[in-house]
Amino acid sequence: MSDWPLNLAGFESAARDRLPQMVYDYYAGGALDEITLRANRDAYDEIALRYRVLVDVSRRSLATGIFGRSLETPILFAPTAFHRLACEEGEMATVRAAKELGTLMVLSSLSTVPMEQVIAEYEHVWFQLYVYRDRGLTRELVARAEAAGAAAIVLTVDAQIWGRRERDVRNQFHLPQGISVANALPGGYGDMPEREGDSGLAAYVNSLFDPALSWEDIAWLKSVTSLPVLLKGIVHPDDARLAVEHGVDGVMVSNHGGRQLDTACATIRALPDVVAAVQGRAPVFVDGGIRRGTDVVKALAYGASAVFVGRPVLWGLAVGGDAGIVAAIRSLQHELDVALALCGAATPAQVTADILAPW
Ligand code: FNR
Ligand code: LAC
Repeated sequence: MSDWPLNLAGFESAARDRLPQMVYDYYAGGALDEITLRANRDAYDEIALRYRVLVDVSRRSLATGIFGRSLETPILFAPTAFHRLACEEGEMATVRAAKELGTLMVLSSLSTVPMEQVIAEYEHVWFQLYVYRDRGLTRELVARAEAAGAAAIVLTVDAQIWGRRERDVRNQFHLPQGISVANALPGGYGDMPEREGDSGLAAYVNSLFDPALSWEDIAWLKSVTSLPVLLKGIVHPDDARLAVEHGVDGVMVSNHGGRQLDTACATIRALPDVVAAVQGRAPVFVDGGIRRGTDVVKALAYGASAVFVGRPVLWGLAVGGDAGIVAAIRSLQHELDVALALCGAATPAQVTADILAPW
């Protein structure tokens, strides 16, 4: 019997015991009353599965193809900032775990290890981009990511103004001495000091990120990279249609884990209309509140090509570095394997919408 926690809730509880309050609250927290944070998770429990039987599921696989490249699982790592707050090795531990699992990692612009070191470790790393007011820095981030070998650029579009996270305000969230925004250090934006009575991250974002970001910038971004470009933070079907019409290569349905606009719709509720609007012209992904294998089955049934998890990676990182992440994600993958088989599917691709049912 391994002494890792039994499930992702157990990993979160173990991480809470290990992390300083400021760090746990930053990782766990959401905006304002955290209604969307809870809704992301609760919405999955309101969806039932009408499983099929008498299907030979003796030979099963979780293999998943994305942009013509084969991954070992449809459970991918969402971009999350500041991994060195959880583990000294930070994003290097995370990318080693992604490599061990044969999955894909989206590296945050706000990583605490320079992107070149992380991307050099593994072929399946996408770079998540925040657009700074300093477009020279932004362009440099994209160029560096492409030169380092990133396989795609993920433009986050739901966070140019910061959501109010009251836990971070109370804790005066900041980056301790010795930990910086490693990718922005050369541009002079590496520090995130403590702010009296406020979140240091909110002050950083609201002073440095560009609130003028608009659809015109998609053409600009595509002009400065040859990599596939995905948009992360879409919940409205008309925005999904616009994304495809602007030549975007993938859509990530996300509400930033409930950390931006509170009372935003749960992502699993937004997913079907986005899939319908995209009409198969690009892969659609989803994140937010995915904690059980059955959640992954439901997302696949609604048309997601794969799912992303954010906080579960951080809980694993806090509990045991790369080995902790591998153990945490493997527990979710085992649940997915069982759920697929009990639904009559031997692979993620065999999941169809007809197994979804209201309670
Ligand atoms: C995030 N998220 C995020 N998104 C992004 O585009 N860039 C980023 O740097 C971060 N940073 C970040 C830090 C932390 C601590 C969290 C919890 C989240 C959002 C993330 O990519 C994802 O959308 C959500 O975390 C998914 O929800 P779950 O799986 O955490 O419930
Ligand atoms: C967050 C950022 C970094 O949600 O995206 O904390």
